[in-house]
Amino acid sequence: MKVKKAVIPAAGLGTRFLPATKTVPKELLPIVDVPSLFYVVEDAVHAGIEDIVIVAGRGKTAIEDFFDTSYELQDLLVKTGKEAMAKRLDQIQNMANIISIRQKQAKGLGHAVYAARPAVGNEPFAVLLGDEVMLPTKEGAPSVTKQLSDIFAQKGESTVAVMKVHEDDVSKYGIVAIENEQSPMKVTEVIEKPSRGSAPSQWALPGRYVFTSRLFALLKDLPPGKNGEIQLTDAMTAIARSEGLWATPFVARRYDAGDKFGYLQANIEQGLLHPEIGPRLKEYLKILSQSL
Ligand code: UTP
Repeated sequence: MKVKKAVIPAAGLGTRFLPATKTVPKELLPIVDVPSLFYVVEDAVHAGIEDIVIVAGRGKTAIEDFFDTSYELQDLLVKTGKEAMAKRLDQIQNMANIISIRQKQAKGLGHAVYAARPAVGNEPFAVLLGDEVMLPTKEGAPSVTKQLSDIFAQKGESTVAVMKVHEDDVSKYGIVAIENEQSPMKVTEVIEKPSRGSAPSQWALPGRYVFTSRLFALLKDLPPGKNGEIQLTDAMTAIARSEGLWATPFVARRYDAGDKFGYLQANIEQGLLHPEIGPRLKEYLKILSQSL
């Protein structure tokens, strides 16, 4: 079973990033010069995904515009000899079929994923959180969505990415209860942000998933869960108990770009790796660390 569609929920309010996110969607805040959402779309495209459904909310039309053509800009770039950048913008608008869907109220991640149902239909699909950036550790390495799709192809059941977190951090994530420690791990239950003492494991969900379309049927009648939101994790427990759910650790450089610290980490690390500014930034950080 090949995964050809992906859903990127990007309709959250981004309250951790206010006041910046009052007018700018957090998914478009740049990591050096590239919006984090671009990297999320690339993660899906590198897994062979062709149709990408972006679920956005009010005030997030800039997301649609980012993947659209800008004739004036293209024209100006070509006329002023900046062909390389014109080509780069051209690649962005042609990287996938982008389908926009609106979540009218931010009622939770499960609710946002359900909003994509008309565009996904009865096919398996990936879900990638719009503020979670996962970059290959080396050129040509498989994207996280590709790593998940490969296990999904073997198992034929929903598969999610997990990472081991410190016990102090379990309350920030959805945490899986598992039957075995070896990958892929069979999931029995998913708990949304458990307290330190009640977490069934330290395996956390950072925001990459592949689901069968059964997830939609389970989300349809789901009552609000933790914090009064329709929780994707509740539907995941339901899918674990009906069809089956697998979890696998992944290989990638991962940044929580929806969090101030994670966002700065992403900018510093990617800045240091950037061919144009990397050496200067490295020198600057060295001098800065000696003077502080
Ligand atoms: P978060 O909880 O990280 O996003 O949801 P948020 O609510 O925007 O952030 P804060 O906590 O207020 O700063 C994870 C992902 O799910 C999306 C978000 O856009 C983010 O990509 N989401 C969340 C939705 O699309 N709709 C929702 O109702 C909630």
